[in-house]
Formats: sequence, structure tokens, C-alpha cells
Amino acid sequence: MCLLLFVLFYGANSQSFGNPARGLEWSPSQQQQQQQQQQQVAPSSMPTNEVARLRGLYLDAVRDSIVGVHLATPTVEARMLNNLTHRPFDATKRAPGNDWPAYGVSMIGQLRMDNLRTLLEDVLAKGVLGSFVECGVWRGGASIFAKAVFTAHGAARDVHLVDSFQGLPPNTTAEDILGWSKWDYLRFHKGYFRYALPTWRAQDKSPIAVLRLDGDMYESTMDELYNLWDAVSPGGYVIIDDWSIKVCRKAITEFFSRNNLDYKITQIDDNGAWFQKTGSGPIDHDWYQQFNNSRTSDDVQTDGS
Ligand SMILES: C[S@@+](CC[C@H](N)C(=O)[O-])C[C@H]1O[C@@H](n2cnc3c(N)ncnc32)[C@H](O)[C@@H]1O
Repeated sequence: MCLLLFVLFYGANSQSFGNPARGLEWSPSQQQQQQQQQQQVAPSSMPTNEVARLRGLYLDAVRDSIVGVHLATPTVEARMLNNLTHRPFDATKRAPGNDWPAYGVSMIGQLRMDNLRTLLEDVLAKGVLGSFVECGVWRGGASIFAKAVFTAHGAARDVHLVDSFQGLPPNTTAEDILGWSKWDYLRFHKGYFRYALPTWRAQDKSPIAVLRLDGDMYESTMDELYNLWDAVSPGGYVIIDDWSIKVCRKAITEFFSRNNLDYKITQIDDNGAWFQKTGSGPIDHDWYQQFNNSRTSDDVQTDGS
């Protein structure tokens, strides 16, 4: 899985039209890098609309590869958890993310990928400060796509991936000085949200431009909202992947009503929705404190990495 993430992220970078500052000290060699740069056509020598067209083609190709459309990968029906038989690819299900690709690194489908791109490009165009954060990563596809969008625009913005996944170990030899998780604006935060999010945010107060909530459950959604809301920049976006899941919708609705928030929620497809955060008023953190006190603890710890 980690190899797959590496291949996709690095592959996305190598085909981008921009030239973002990467913070990447690993490279095949300085000489090879210089040769590569010389071979690239400088974006400024192309008409703007041609750059936009090629960027669009590139991002569509990345999207369709991530959701398994290129290879028409088979489906695992999302509502048949007890019977995980593969079924033939169905384009009408894959577009709105109504199936799980047996082989594919995201289950959110093309429409929600397009929405993610639209919102990311909007915050870049308007200069809304901050990173992209995804809570609930699965095989990484939506975060990979966000990284590809930033890279295609030459935007040096962080992509934070928060999940309970097992990350790579910290380096123990001088050969791996940087550590994979520090590469190229990618930040992995491992652990259940209730532990990983406060640990991360205690060390990092940087703003978030686009926050993607994809943790399915009521309490996962509450953890996401209460730990990250204050960091979302005014003018930034919140994507609710699980708007169709009753308990997720309940968490959002309760959070809004408890904090007197009234943002217009726009549906993307049968599952996902988004809204723009325009204000910056404080929220009531006492409720979350009580909620936490009422929860049983579990064994899984986070390293906050
Ligand atoms: C529906 S999947 C995410 C799909 C993904 N965004 C994509 O593009 O395909 C939900 C993910 O949320 C994670 N998750 C849910 N609740 C969590 C929690 N409380 N703490 C950590 N991870 C959680 C699961 O591990 C899983 O990877």
C-alpha cells in the first residue's frame, strides 16, 4: 500500500506542469534532475488556455486512474458487506461512488473527485490560506488527487492524511534521514481521530483551506469537527463525504445547531455534500469535553506522526 502511495504521488509530481517547491531532498541525482527540467516545456511559453487544457487532461487522467475507471476494475457492492463477491465494472455506479472498486485507491467516484478539484482550485484562485486535510483516508485516493491538484497548479501546500492506518516506521539508519512521511508536503497522522487529531493540532496551528470529512461514524465526525473547525480559514471549504449516512448527518446537524451555525449545504451526488465556512466565531468546546469524558477509552494509541 505504501509503495502504491509512493508511486502515485511521485508519478503525479513527475507529470505536473508547474514547478512547485517540493522540499524533497531525495532525488536520482542533481544532474538527472537538471536534465529533466531542461526537457520540460516551461509553462510560461504556452498560452494560458493550453496550460489549463493540458492540466485538465492530466487531472482527469489521474482521477480516472484513482477510482479505477481506466482499467474498468470490478466492483465490491458497498451494501453487501457479508457477500464480497466481485461484480463487473459499472460506469454508472463508479461515477457517483456508489460502489467500492475492488482495485482502485478511492471509493468516492468521479463526481466527488471533481468537486474536490473545484473547491481546491477555488481556494487557490482566491488565496484562501491553508492546507488540505482528509480525515478518513482508506487507500489514499482522495488525498492523492488533492496532491495532484496542488502539484498541477505549482502550489506548495500541505496535504494531511488522518487515519488509523499503519504508517511506515521511523527511520533508524542515516540512509533514511528525512523519513517518508516528511516528503513533499505530505503529513501522515496515524491513529483514531480522537487521539491523532488533538495530538497533531497541539503541535501545529497552521490553517486548513479544504477539510474533507470521510470517517463515516457519528463520533468520528464529531472528532473531526471539534478538533479541526477552528483551523478552517474563513472562505475555506468543508466536504462531508458521508452526508447520506444518517449518523454523520446527525453529527453535522447537531454541531451546527449547538454552535448557531447556518451554512448552506450543497449536495454533490447521492452521498457527498459540501459547504463554505465564511465566519470565524468561536464554538462551544465544553460539549466535546463532556462527550469525551462519557466515552470509553480504547487501546489504540497514536504517535501523532
Ligand atoms: C470510507 S473510508 C474513506 C474513503 C477515502 N476517503 C477514499 O477516498 O476512498 C473511511 C476511513 O475512515 C477511517 N476512520 C473512520 N473513523 C476513524 C477514526 N475514528 N479514527 C481513525 N480513522 C477512522 C477508516 O480507517 C477508513 O480508512
